[in-house]
Amino acid sequence: MALYNVFDCTIVELDRHHSDRKGNLTVVENGLTLPFDVKRVYYLYDVPGGENRGAHAHRELEQLIIAASGSFTVTLDDGKNKRSFFLNRPYQGLYVKPGLWRDLVDFSSGAVCMVLASEVYQKEDYIRDYQEYINFRNSKNGR
Ligand code: TYD
Repeated sequence: MALYNVFDCTIVELDRHHSDRKGNLTVVENGLTLPFDVKRVYYLYDVPGGENRGAHAHRELEQLIIAASGSFTVTLDDGKNKRSFFLNRPYQGLYVKPGLWRDLVDFSSGAVCMVLASEVYQKEDYIRDYQEYINFRNSKNGR
């Protein structure tokens, strides 16, 4: 598995179908939208205003994080650099490569954070301790 940094992660513009009368519709389709196939979808909601989520890294998992409603900020950290992405459009997603620490902060009230993931839930894929994360990055760097 390659070692990615925060500059490998980008906002993806999703397909948007607009109708003046009927509103909008956005599609994510395996094989077309993303560099991975979606195996799992989960969403965070009823997050109290100002609460934080995330605070972990995944060893192998890739994700697309979407503000399906409302807004929040995702800060990515590769141990050297940090980048923050403000998400507030249901037709944009943040594509997060494997091996990056993420913090989700500043949820607006009523926000829905939808996550499309490349793998089913595996507890062993999580790193929840920041120092352990730095050790993981250094070992991958061959240091
Ligand atoms: P957690 O990863 O702590 O949420 P976040 O890091 O975004 O704040 O997940 C909260 C709980 O939900 C935890 O007990 C694990 C469980 N969970 C699943 O059972 N399956 C899943 O796919 C996910 C993402 C979480």
